[in-house]
Amino acid sequence: MKTRLILLYAALAVPATAVGSPDAAASSATFPLLGSAHGGHVWTSFCANQPDSAALPPDPRSLVQPGVNQNKAVYFNAYWKNCHADPALIGEQPEPATCGEWRQSVARGDTLLRGNGAVGALSFFGATNAVSFMTIPAVSYNRVWKEWGLNSRPDNFDALVGERYGFPLGSVRNPYPQPGEDPNKTSGGSGQLPIGLTQTHNADGSWSGNVSLTCNACHSTVLGNPADGTGPGALYGSGNTLDDIALFARDIAEAGTQAPYAYVVGTALARNRGTNSPSDLNLFYTLSNFFPVNGGGLIDQYTLGLLTSGSVASNDAPAWWNAGHRPVKFQDGILPGDSDRTDLVFGITFANLIAASSGSQAAQVWLKAHDQDAGHFIMSLQSPSWPYGYCSNADGTPAAGDNPACINTPLAEQGAILFHSKNLWDPSLENPVPKPDGGNGSCASCHGAYSPQFVNDPSYLDTPALEGIASYVVPKAVIGTDPARVDTNNKAVQGAGAGNFLNYPETAGTAQSCAALGGSYPPGYLAPPLYGVWATAPYFHNGSVPTVWDVLKPSDRPPIWQRVSAPARADQQGQVVMGFDTDMPRAYDMARLGWQYTTPACGSGSQVIPYLQCNPTNPNTEPLAQALLSLLDGNLVGVWNLGNFAVWSATTPAQIDQRKTYNTHLYSQGNEGHAFTSVLTDGERKALIEYLKTL
Ligand code: HEC
Ligand code: HEC
Repeated sequence: MKTRLILLYAALAVPATAVGSPDAAASSATFPLLGSAHGGHVWTSFCANQPDSAALPPDPRSLVQPGVNQNKAVYFNAYWKNCHADPALIGEQPEPATCGEWRQSVARGDTLLRGNGAVGALSFFGATNAVSFMTIPAVSYNRVWKEWGLNSRPDNFDALVGERYGFPLGSVRNPYPQPGEDPNKTSGGSGQLPIGLTQTHNADGSWSGNVSLTCNACHSTVLGNPADGTGPGALYGSGNTLDDIALFARDIAEAGTQAPYAYVVGTALARNRGTNSPSDLNLFYTLSNFFPVNGGGLIDQYTLGLLTSGSVASNDAPAWWNAGHRPVKFQDGILPGDSDRTDLVFGITFANLIAASSGSQAAQVWLKAHDQDAGHFIMSLQSPSWPYGYCSNADGTPAAGDNPACINTPLAEQGAILFHSKNLWDPSLENPVPKPDGGNGSCASCHGAYSPQFVNDPSYLDTPALEGIASYVVPKAVIGTDPARVDTNNKAVQGAGAGNFLNYPETAGTAQSCAALGGSYPPGYLAPPLYGVWATAPYFHNGSVPTVWDVLKPSDRPPIWQRVSAPARADQQGQVVMGFDTDMPRAYDMARLGWQYTTPACGSGSQVIPYLQCNPTNPNTEPLAQALLSLLDGNLVGVWNLGNFAVWSATTPAQIDQRKTYNTHLYSQGNEGHAFTSVLTDGERKALIEYLKTL
């Protein structure tokens, strides 16, 4: 339990709803139990064989309005807003109306966000410019190995960049010039950048010789290898849980860029590998008070609340492939799904971000011209299929030639029924967690319905078009996961944000107001759709739980754990930092769904990083000094970030390896919550896991 100095807002009560009869037996037998849309958006599947002129069906998210799904098995308490209802008012395009408009917008968004050296690709605080305050000249990038304690540039430099910083390499060419190369004579250069970096272009389209981060540094990863059938390979929009962005920032600052200070600041972003903290909006709004944003001066009505909002701290990005099924977004559901401007907060040039937030019309033009394309690309992405297929034997077991990790169909079907109909609050189960307000008490009541049989059952959804939609912000008292992230988003943050250009202040006062949604439901965490959830371990908004099994069995969750690292090349062992292993046969736990891990002994290794690891005499409690720090972290904006400068003291591979330890005793990293699944039996967990492989 973290103590709050100030109780910033009280929970609003939501009226309880009665539930109809979500009886599995009553559902139509004509629809199969298994089947998945794999996220994405119905506009893509609908348009697959339609001409450009075909009119689009309604956006399923727009159906989630107050009154929808009343008394049904699937419950919603957060509703859609169409930020683009009045395009003239906000100066953006209307939402696409035809397949042609949709396809073109997705294609433009693809160019913007995928990177890989495309002309028109967006980079960190750089828009599509050749140079920004975060671009890294190739000469600096090329000498970053000097920070690794090696005597010469290793022949596998590109691969080692991927390992050390957790920025994996994709198979699509993503060039940068190696020492001595002219990128314009070598079609970009012979080096291969990770999927989270891109080389920028000059205004005339020529290569600039500068590299920079893209959104993929935090939002995309590589998992297994498609060539040998052991995984999907590069996964756009999965979230990146491999990265040590603070380590990268530090090394790049030391390697000397034109703006090392930008990277010095970047080292404040993460305490350990695999997490990041991008949503310090409170910090941004606090700093914005130094610029006359919202008409406020240095001190305005929000300043005190902003200063005491605490630190967002460790985060794990939601999968983009679920965006088309999220009527509201961010971990706490704070913004409407259609609120596209905030998504590009890392993409607009920094000067323009400040200028746009301060009301400069000119600075807002770029964002208005690009944010919807980015949003459409994000919505169009789909989750990968389980790489090992379905088992061929009729009883569900693997036949000769099947991979042993194949899906057991009868078991997955049992899992589908449990997922949609097992009431976790059946009185006989004596669930220790308070019962949530609506729904039938099943997984589906919070996470949405996926199985065609239940999707087409009118006691589950008003219309099958709501398949896979999840829009329930589950109150803190029910979900019980680490509260730091949601507590940070206090009224002052929302108030300061409401006037900011990023939050469509033009729509204020209209029925489709796209300001933050806080107050319309009790604070908590938004239940995510579970498409491709097998591919996005570790779990929860802070990445604190390594496998789905551990999500479903709270008593098995490790308090201190570490994912396994990829093996180093024989001649480099002990000299280089290897990243988390993404080879599925080697490092993925096929039975528990997630990454294999070890549980380092409490107090092992030097205590420098992460410092205050745990209390060796009682590993289940926080040491006193740490508890005091947590109090500060939770009540003062940016304090936690200052602690992350500890990365500067990690120099040897062994010290850097300590950053791989996930310590759930640290502020914001608690692994508690979702405790209502403690009433499941192990047999039920196995069936549910088999089902989740099919989504
Ligand atoms: C430093 C890492 C980082 C970078 C860089 C980053 N993001 Fe994010 N992003 C996150 C995390 C973590 C969240 C979850 C934040 C939360 O809800 O608290 C997030 C949330 C989002 C969401 C909301 C997803 C949802 O369904 O709730 C969108 C959309 C998004 N980011 C788009 C982008 C785009 C586009 C870029 C590049 C311009 C970008 N992000 C750059 C880490 C990052
Ligand atoms: C009362 C609502 C509720 C119920 C019931 C529920 N969940 Fe969840 N679940 C959530 C919320 C909210 C989160 C996100 C919590 C967070 O990130 O802090 C979550 C997270 C998860 C995650 C991790 C997702 C991720 O990407 O990190 C999995 C897996 C999951 N739930 C599976 C299930 C299964 C299986 C069941 C049924 C046995 C179930 N849940 C029942 C609300 C619910």
